[in-house]
Amino acid sequence: MNAIPDASGSPVAPEAPVRVRSASLDCTSLGAATEGALYQALLDQDSRPTPDVYRWQSPMGDGQLRVPVERYTSPEFHRVEVDKVWKRVWQMACREEDIPEVGDHLPYDIAGISVLVVRTAPDTVRAFRNICRHRGRMLKEYPGRAEELRCPFHGIAWNLDGGLKQIPCSWDFPQVDEDDFDLPPVQADTWGGFVFINLDPAAGPLAEFLGDLPAHFTEWPLEERFKQVHVGKVLRCNWKLAQEAFMESYHVVATHPQLLPGMGDTITQYDAFGHFARAITPNGLPSTHLRWEPTDQQMVDVHFDRALDQDPTFVVPEGVSGRQALADHRRAGLVHVLGEDRANSLSDAEVNDSMVYAVFPNFHPWGSYNRIVYRFRPDGNRHDRCVMECMILSPFRGPRPPAAPLKMLGVDDDWTEAWELGLLTRVFNQDVYNLPRVQEGLESGAIDEVVFARYQESKIRCLHAELERWITRD
Ligand SMILES: [Fe+2]
Repeated sequence: MNAIPDASGSPVAPEAPVRVRSASLDCTSLGAATEGALYQALLDQDSRPTPDVYRWQSPMGDGQLRVPVERYTSPEFHRVEVDKVWKRVWQMACREEDIPEVGDHLPYDIAGISVLVVRTAPDTVRAFRNICRHRGRMLKEYPGRAEELRCPFHGIAWNLDGGLKQIPCSWDFPQVDEDDFDLPPVQADTWGGFVFINLDPAAGPLAEFLGDLPAHFTEWPLEERFKQVHVGKVLRCNWKLAQEAFMESYHVVATHPQLLPGMGDTITQYDAFGHFARAITPNGLPSTHLRWEPTDQQMVDVHFDRALDQDPTFVVPEGVSGRQALADHRRAGLVHVLGEDRANSLSDAEVNDSMVYAVFPNFHPWGSYNRIVYRFRPDGNRHDRCVMECMILSPFRGPRPPAAPLKMLGVDDDWTEAWELGLLTRVFNQDVYNLPRVQEGLESGAIDEVVFARYQESKIRCLHAELERWITRD
């Protein structure tokens, strides 16, 4: 995989500059030989050394090239997922800064089960089943701050650490041993500034579950970010279907054609690492799909939220490539938070490219400075609706800014109502426009299986390989 095929399919020397233009490369002839090779060659031209993590390559082998439609449409399959996955897997519940003070709490709901995440001490986060042990009322419906966890129904109260505090008219509960009436505990731990929970008391530690993932984020510790934006929206489709729309760049040509002048969709590198996978898509250069040659200015303009009749956010200097200009602009924008030395040391890849991880089953943190995190969950306990969330995690200097609360959009709301997401809102609208039509198509029973592109949809195949492993466990 050292040589880069040109349009005719014959190899060119790897030291030849990668100038991905429609004139010199035809994606239809690239084929499997390009798996990661063109992206790696692009890194060779970076104006700074790129961190090792960009050089790691782990293409997925065969497997899960087709999966049964019932994985998206069957209530029975959903119930298997609840029992075998959601009740057993480590899952991201919130950011640590969502509950900064002792007594802060936040309900995290998954497939009809509610978990209460509580900061019990300045450095301790714990979690409990969000339910009163008396009659089963949900203890807390909203995030808040409290000195105790008191049920609104009859007033039975627990301490923040889950130990029983008070039963009104306790004389009336002769059958209750007050030393054995704690809130049912749920495992909780943290990584990267995120709180994770696990409903399975027998599950191994979070660090064991995450495995090598933290090694991918050592250059950009996510605990040093703050949640600047948090928006969620209900979608009319299965939770896997929704996240799969964000796990490949194959759909860009048809769904987001406006991005093609500035996005190397077809030379995306995809890697599978077992319980997590990633895609790295370069930006600031044109897609090989384009049949016209954009200017360097057009290559950067697609990355900014502006109308066509507005002036460019910045003007690409004469003689500077679009990719270089985009990187320089983004490095300059990070100086005020990272300092001049650190900001100027960042490679073009770190500031330009989209490095998107997918951690089983539903957690999608982006690497480097693209700041995005996605999470996808079933909506309530439904197999045919889900909640998609997008967080923007920004670096900061000085005191930690407060975390943005979740802004929730309903199933019929438009993403553009979440103006704080900027350009992403219209891209998301394009993405989610497909999804109910896919769900309806699958529900129609016309096909028994869906088929996945072997390379460009390898992140999705990796998800299904891991899902297969979990649902067939004892
Ligand atoms: Fe998309």
